[in-house]
Amino acid sequence: MQRLDAPTTLIIGANGRLGTAFRRTWPQASPVTREVLDITDEAATRAYIMRARPTVILNCAALTDQRTCERNPDRARSINVDGVRHLRAAADAVEATLVHFSCDRAANPVNVYGRTKLESEPLGHLTIRARIYDGSHPVWSALSRQESLGLSIKHWMNPISTTSLVTITFGLLNRSARGLIEVGTRYRLSEYEVGRVWASVLGTNPELITPVQRAKTDSLPTADSVMSTLGVSRHNIYIPTLEEDAALHRSWYIMNRD
Ligand SMILES: NC(=O)c1ccc[n+]([C@@H]2O[C@H](COP(=O)([O-])OP(=O)(O)OC[C@H]3O[C@@H](n4cnc5c(N)ncnc54)[C@H](OP(=O)(O)O)[C@@H]3O)[C@@H](O)[C@H]2O)c1
Repeated sequence: MQRLDAPTTLIIGANGRLGTAFRRTWPQASPVTREVLDITDEAATRAYIMRARPTVILNCAALTDQRTCERNPDRARSINVDGVRHLRAAADAVEATLVHFSCDRAANPVNVYGRTKLESEPLGHLTIRARIYDGSHPVWSALSRQESLGLSIKHWMNPISTTSLVTITFGLLNRSARGLIEVGTRYRLSEYEVGRVWASVLGTNPELITPVQRAKTDSLPTADSVMSTLGVSRHNIYIPTLEEDAALHRSWYIMNRD
């Protein structure tokens, strides 16, 4: 059922991991796929937004495959930076709020993907930077398949699921938050500890995980990717622990399986 009082919200990149989480959590919002709107086309982006006249634009579109970004830096830039600029100009023309998503890689930009995400961050009215996961995350899916794997005791992080990120985004929007805000779960954990938490939530034997210095799952040199939680707590929004977040995400994933 459409809620008449719902703000007109567009989900750009609606078929991606985050876009899917928004689409399923907020069905009254309008999903916009790449087939309908290619954000690298400035004129088409402006025309689409002028016609739709949204109040909120959630930009979940990006080129996220880091190897493809390295091979095609111009394409990465045209989607991850120029596309966001086109959305921002169109959002300003209709006085909509552009919510943009960035990545922990922007805090430590060692490759094309990280650099393009960093460059895009000032373009959102509200930009949310996070290390996110869902059921397709290589560690989560390996644990779901009861596979053994080595995870780093040196790489610190506080990843958050797409499920909780959607809730926190709504909280920030409701409070008219603006600027760059980092989002993560409450405590910093090593990748190994993250794997142990996920294993316990998934009912996987934790002994399948071996502590290592550097994990094969990470394509980049080991580096901390801990997001600050201050920006979210300042808005009096609850920050879940990874245990709470993973349990919620697992239930959501089971309920929303196709
Ligand atoms: N995944 C992570 O670990 C992670 C972590 C933190 C932040 N983020 C950020 O969160 C956002 C969403 O990430 P995600 O993991 O959901 O990405 P994703 O699964 O790769 O989805 C990206 C979506 O963008 C669409 N897209 C690509 N080029 C486009 C274009 N020119 N015009 C319109 N749509 C286009 C893709 O459409 P097609 O399917 O048709 O190609 C796809 O549906 C990104 O900004 C990403 O940087 C991701």
